[in-house]
Amino acid sequence: MSNEQGITIWEENDIETDEAWEAAYKNFETPQEEIQKFKARLHRLGAGDWPRDARIVELFCGRCNGITALQELGFTSLEGVDMSLSLLQEYSGNARLYAGDCRELKFEINSRDYVIVQGGLHHLPVLSDDLDRVFFEVKRILRPGGCFIFVEPWDTLFLRVVHLSCSLSFLTSRWRRLKALHDMIEGERVTYYNWLNNKSIIETVLKKYFDKEQLIIRFGKVCFVGYTKK
Ligand SMILES: C[S@@+](CC[C@H](N)C(=O)[O-])C[C@H]1O[C@@H](n2cnc3c(N)ncnc32)[C@H](O)[C@@H]1O
Repeated sequence: MSNEQGITIWEENDIETDEAWEAAYKNFETPQEEIQKFKARLHRLGAGDWPRDARIVELFCGRCNGITALQELGFTSLEGVDMSLSLLQEYSGNARLYAGDCRELKFEINSRDYVIVQGGLHHLPVLSDDLDRVFFEVKRILRPGGCFIFVEPWDTLFLRVVHLSCSLSFLTSRWRRLKALHDMIEGERVTYYNWLNNKSIIETVLKKYFDKEQLIIRFGKVCFVGYTKK
């Protein structure tokens, strides 16, 4: 089933959206800031060398600025999945969008070349089960040797300083982005800290499905690039 904007709806029941969290997410960065950030990040992760007609899916794509960044880098076969229809509706480009749960992808086996996640795994409520479900699905839809990339928050000294700054009202009252980050973290507190506090579970599930090519930890984020295990 598709809606009037051409977004394919996978879920039969309406998914509840968290309006306060979405408002904070939109306040954190402007679309232009986000697109520039994603373009620079994709370059660092090697996207300059990927074939421009590669079949790329971005999971947990939100308002799709990651997809717009890929489009601006010249990629032509783009898809996005997110459970928030209201965020997907902010996108107006040519990619195919799906409103649904990334734990249950309705794509064919071996049908995609790259799967990307830029901040979404830390929203999963149950570790390790939900992570296992997402990674299983990513491996299932990637062709043999297909590439999986994810970027997520990671517990580092830098991130702890950011958390401390978020707790100081004299800073959050002066700096819009810090206030937005504070509100986002509050809205996702349980899953966010569950993610940050379970590195070994994450590493174990990751090893089950993917061979690592790159793992970069910088500025409170982990960037993983890997390939499906044979
Ligand atoms: C932090 S946002 C990241 C959005 C986007 N990747 C970005 O960086 O702008 C996380 C997104 O995950 C979505 N999400 C959370 N759980 C999901 C699930 N199980 N399936 C699909 N989307 C989910 C939320 O709706 C939200 O848009």
